[in-house]
Formats: sequence, structure tokens, C-alpha cells
Amino acid sequence: MSRHRVYVARRLPDPAMDRLRQHVDMTVWPTDELPPPREVLLREAAVSDGLLSLLTDRIDGALLDAAPRVRVVSNYAVGYDNIDVAAATSRGVVVTNTPGVLTETVADFAITLLLAVARRVVESDRYTREGRWKSWEPLLFLGQDLYGATLGLVGLGRIGTAVAKRAHGFDMRILYHDVVRREDLEHDLGLEFTSLEDLLRRSDFISVHTPLTPQTRHLISTDQFRLMKRTAVLVNTARGPIVDPDALYRALADRQIWGAGLDVFEVEPVPADHPLLRLDNIIVAPHIASASVETRTKMALMAVDNLLAALGGQRPSNFVNPDVWERRRI
Ligand code: GLV
Ligand code: GLV
Repeated sequence: MSRHRVYVARRLPDPAMDRLRQHVDMTVWPTDELPPPREVLLREAAVSDGLLSLLTDRIDGALLDAAPRVRVVSNYAVGYDNIDVAAATSRGVVVTNTPGVLTETVADFAITLLLAVARRVVESDRYTREGRWKSWEPLLFLGQDLYGATLGLVGLGRIGTAVAKRAHGFDMRILYHDVVRREDLEHDLGLEFTSLEDLLRRSDFISVHTPLTPQTRHLISTDQFRLMKRTAVLVNTARGPIVDPDALYRALADRQIWGAGLDVFEVEPVPADHPLLRLDNIIVAPHIASASVETRTKMALMAVDNLLAALGGQRPSNFVNPDVWERRRI
């Protein structure tokens, strides 16, 4: 039997590449720092049975039309807003993602950003390195306490819940808003369900954990910043477009809120001359919340297993569009 042909849109951790190599013929985009250009993706997809895509690869109807052999798109990410799932479903193409394995690692990073903004870690580092530290000062780099403060979770999926568990250890009062109410978790973790408005008004720290959908695009914009406390800290490790960057800029520049931490941006990579990067009350990172050695390896193996299962006619464990399977189109 001839082997399936797979296009891998970026080099992944070795154990995943090794597993893939054993089972399929693969072509890998060789440049680590940049995604394959659209024309390369189109050309490679046209001759592939499966794609291993990243959140930087736009997989839409036009691409799938140019790729009649493609039966599965395995996304190396839990989020899949880079994929037109409806277009894939209508063409019988399986879409998979990597939920679960990155939950704790992303939650760690959300807490990292909350603490780093609250305690001004990056500013302090710069100040110390620049030789500006003259003596111990009572008022030097005063921050905000995470301990005992009120945390508002916008979205209580797997990651939001994992952040709540950590916040519990900081004796925080935890509010959440989601389209789904989770009374089981409210009880176990002592969470309070609120409207988004109430959450924004009452929280000292706000952390965003919703997927990006048409409903969550610019969910946090000018009106929402107006509701926040002047001491509020906003952290986004979910998807950039959930927070309106112009509104965030004004809120931070006018000291309408106290600070922000962003791992994700409306346009990635965020241009080096973006106004947000001129502010000192924001900490930024290049979309690395899931980036631990262990987690990135697990994600890669999961993406490979999903891909191989679908190509081999087995139901992949992490289906985004199970309707395709029900219809047995592959
Ligand atoms: C990363 O952002 C992911 O969705 O896994
Ligand atoms: C993503 O994994 C989420 O459910 O938060």
C-alpha cells in the first residue's frame, strides 16, 4: 500500500517528527521562524492527503478546493480560529486540535503574567540592569497584591478552570462569566457566576480564556474598560482579537486601568513600532503560553496521532467537527 503524503507546516519536537516519519511520507516547511507562504501551502496541500497546520496557517475553503486529496487537517493548537471549520466539514475534511495537554501550562503562564504585571517584574529587571538602583527605597516599584484580591475569569473552559484552581491557593475571590454556567465548579472551587459587566466592575485582576469567535471579537473594548477599576490588571493568553487593541492602548495610556499582560495580539507578530509597546504598564510575550518542553512535545504527539488516526480510517481522539465522521465521508 502506498504511504500517505503529509505536509507539516513547521518543524515540531523530534519525537513527533520521528513518529510521523515511520508512518507517512512527509514534507516539512524548513523555516522555524516563519510560516509557509500561502502559495507554498497551496502547492503542498494540492499533493497531500493530510495537513499538520499551525495557528499561523489559514486553512479556508479556497485552500481546501485546491487540495482535493486532503482528508484531514490536524491543528497543532487547542484554538482553531485559523481554520474555516464549516468549509472543512462541508468538504468532508476532518479537523482536529490539541485540547487538554496544554491546559496547565497555559494556566501557569496566565498566573505568571498576572504576577509579573502586578509586581512590575519586567520594569524592575530593566531598572536593575541599567544600573539605576541607588538604595533600598520605601516607594520603589510598588505593585498590587494578587493574594486575597478579586479575580475575574472571562471564560471558564479547561484553562479558565485551571487558573481558578491556582487562584484558589492565592486566597482570591473568583468571579467568572461564560456562556455556560458551571454550578459544579462554583461549588468545588468557590466561584461566583456574574454578568460580564459585574465582573469587570468588581475584579482587581481579569484574565481572558474564551475562544475567538464572532461573538468574542473585541469583547473587551472601550465600554468594558470604562467599567474596570483604575487599579485593574488585564491579562490575555487566549486570542488577541478578543481585546480591542486601540481601546486597550487608551485605557493604559490614560491610566484608566493599572496594567496589562498580553501573550496574544490582534496581529501577530505585533509590529515593533506598535503604540502598545511604548507603554511601561504592559508586559508582552510572543504567544508562548503553552511553550514548555513537555507540553509542546505532548501537543505535537497528539497532533500526529490525530492525523495518523484519520488517515488510517480511525476516529481521531480530538475531533473538532465530528459530523464529518458520522457521515463517514473519509
Ligand atoms: C495556542 O494558542 C493554542 O491554541 O494552542
Ligand atoms: C481550552 O482548552 C479551554 O477549554 O479553555
